[in-house]
Amino acid sequence: MNISAENIGKKYSKKSRSVTAVQTTSAEFESGKLTVIFGRSGSGKTTLLNILSGLIKPTSGSVTYDGKDIFSLDDRELSKFRAGNIGYIPQGQSSLSALTVAENLTLPAALVGRDIPDDEVEKMLKTVGLTDLKNAYPNELSGGELRRLAIARALINKPSVIFADEPTNDLDDENTRIVFELLKKTAKQGTAVIAVTHDTTAADHADTIYRMDAGVLTKQEGIKREIA
Ligand SMILES: Nc1ncnc2c1ncn2[C@@H]1O[C@H](COP(=O)(O)OP(=O)(O)O)[C@@H](O)[C@H]1O
Ligand SMILES: [Mg+2]
Repeated sequence: MNISAENIGKKYSKKSRSVTAVQTTSAEFESGKLTVIFGRSGSGKTTLLNILSGLIKPTSGSVTYDGKDIFSLDDRELSKFRAGNIGYIPQGQSSLSALTVAENLTLPAALVGRDIPDDEVEKMLKTVGLTDLKNAYPNELSGGELRRLAIARALINKPSVIFADEPTNDLDDENTRIVFELLKKTAKQGTAVIAVTHDTTAADHADTIYRMDAGVLTKQEGIKREIA
């Protein structure tokens, strides 16, 4: 899947003030690549991800997936498109505390009427190193384990695109490494992976690096890095 953002911009207007969260920008994201977008808090990263993933409409510009303009779809079509093609790893904790790890994992699929066979659940839990926690509840999991569960939940639908919003926020070095290696591996298998972060270790795993500063997105060219 080739994602193309053309002249997208986002201005939040409120009575008292208006904020330009994303300055007009264009960018392309490809299958098989891990793109990392660095930026400080408040620089517009979440807004950008939300636009690229179709969660919020830009004030200007368009977002196309393999040439298809996602904002020309009506709400129902867009939800269906998102469910079928996009995995979103939101910032922070996103598991439901009353459900087990396995139930949390299969919930998004269940919501769109898809039953995930148990062997697929087990395989995914193994991929993210949560095999022994299948029947545990979120409050029994560490921060790193919760984040890996969120990643597994995004991956299990085999989306063609994954968005991750600060996926290693609050994680220790070891879990940070595990998470980025997982995202890198996912990209290598053909998914377009786009992660925003302020964790500079992500650069070691990225194929393409952007920087976001006060709403301005800039591609970083020619940065030397060891590719994992
Ligand atoms: N729903 C909203 N309404 C008004 N302003 C917003 C909204 N969401 C974000 N902003 C503002 O847009 C700017 C960028 O925010 P955000 O995209 O969350 O940045 P980041 O993810 O890099 O921290 C900030 O100034 C923030 O206050
Ligand atoms: Mg954010």
